[in-house]
Amino acid sequence: MLYIGVDLGTSAVKLLLMDGDGKIQNIVSKEYPLYFPHPGWSEQNPEDWYEQTMAGLKELLAGCDHSQVAGISFGGQMHGLVILDKEDQVIRPAILWNDGRTQEECDYLNNEIGRDKLSEYTANIAFAGFTAPKLLWVRKNEPENFARIEKIMLPKDYIAYRLSGVHCTDVSDASGMLTFDVKNRCWSKEMLELCGVREEQMAQIFESYEVVGTVLPEIAAELAVPQTVKVIAGAGDNAAAAVGTGTVGDGACNISLGTSGTIFISSEKFGVDKYNALHAFAHADGHYHLMGCMLSAASCNKWWMDEIIGTKDYAAEQAQIEKLGENHVYFLPYLMGERSPHNNPNARATFIGMTMDTTRADMTQAVLEGVAFALRDSLEVAKSLGIQIERTKICGGGAKSPLWKKIIANVLNLKVDVIESEEGPGLGGAMLAAVGCGEYASVADAAAKIVRVIDTIEPDPELVAKYEARYAQFKQVYPTCKLLFDALL
Ligand code: XUL
Repeated sequence: MLYIGVDLGTSAVKLLLMDGDGKIQNIVSKEYPLYFPHPGWSEQNPEDWYEQTMAGLKELLAGCDHSQVAGISFGGQMHGLVILDKEDQVIRPAILWNDGRTQEECDYLNNEIGRDKLSEYTANIAFAGFTAPKLLWVRKNEPENFARIEKIMLPKDYIAYRLSGVHCTDVSDASGMLTFDVKNRCWSKEMLELCGVREEQMAQIFESYEVVGTVLPEIAAELAVPQTVKVIAGAGDNAAAAVGTGTVGDGACNISLGTSGTIFISSEKFGVDKYNALHAFAHADGHYHLMGCMLSAASCNKWWMDEIIGTKDYAAEQAQIEKLGENHVYFLPYLMGERSPHNNPNARATFIGMTMDTTRADMTQAVLEGVAFALRDSLEVAKSLGIQIERTKICGGGAKSPLWKKIIANVLNLKVDVIESEEGPGLGGAMLAAVGCGEYASVADAAAKIVRVIDTIEPDPELVAKYEARYAQFKQVYPTCKLLFDALL
């Protein structure tokens, strides 16, 4: 049988076709625009997601035996607010995970309602990208839109709805809404009340590997697949990426270097860090995970290469980098503000430390290192909780660079296990579909049978020591710039 994974990303939707043995048969990617209607705002049009997903599905399936398609599932950009009216029409563009407009709402939630209460209700505190602060923003700034809301959805769930007709979500993605009681895997009554919404307005909750329904007859006809094709709930892109890299069970770690950068630690048991610096979310394998999320990761390199230097040849630029651990330039990667661990939408990107002999290669290196140092910030929080991590998997566009993987291994002092396919959320989505269709007994079973480590990058003690000293310096840059960031607004 064949299984489809849809990775509904921020710059594109990536579709992946996998057979029952876990072999990837085809991959297709379709881009869509991202809108910044105001500094710090970030929006997309759900209809673009749908159109490109359908176009991509047709391309993905061309040439395969359509009658063999058994299931479809998802990994999707998290936290985005999609609101539907009573005709299930989208009311306004989706407000995305990297949108920073809700500082006032976050201050209200964290300071007036209080972090302790939020953490008790949801296991998390308010961050600007989370969904509940966006609901409060719409209620205050667009009351006419708020009054029309019949259903509140997340990005990938909107696609699942268009394919199946079911208003569904899954536990991992719901965790990032701040309206979900993560520990008990249900909606938080207190949070819904605080946001002024009723439970009927929320989607039905599923475990990530559960079947939501089958494709609608018109979708089956359009894609030329059987009407029995199952739609499986899927997961937020980070949990789906964790599935796709085999990051399940206790203490396993995955780093994703996509538009955002995340460090994801899976756990059999529910747990919250004292300061809620890391997100405590439900995992797609039926358990839990902790996660630090930086808002700009591979996107920093893309910005530096495409917009500033003006090249598409990333490898040629990286080939000029020779002196790892000895760069005198530092880069703060906060192009969209920052989430973990600073929780500051006003933070900005900065280069510091240049001299007359600074080269273009030094600047490129600083960008790659700045992202690695910022990931280390989240790793440090995990370590402070007593979590011991020795090794990590890695996925996402940035993971295609051998140099960047080496920098990550040495800055974080972790063994980096390179896996056969770094397709993360797309593969994870297809694996969840296969589990939902009964091809594998569980997510852990699918991970054990499908994911293969093909190489390990070992940290080099000498380089680790050099980076240790540089990280100590990097850590001083943000606190020193913080006041200035607020003043520069
Ligand atoms: C996670 C987060 C990002 C998005 C990117 O909390 O906001 O990783 O899911 O798609």
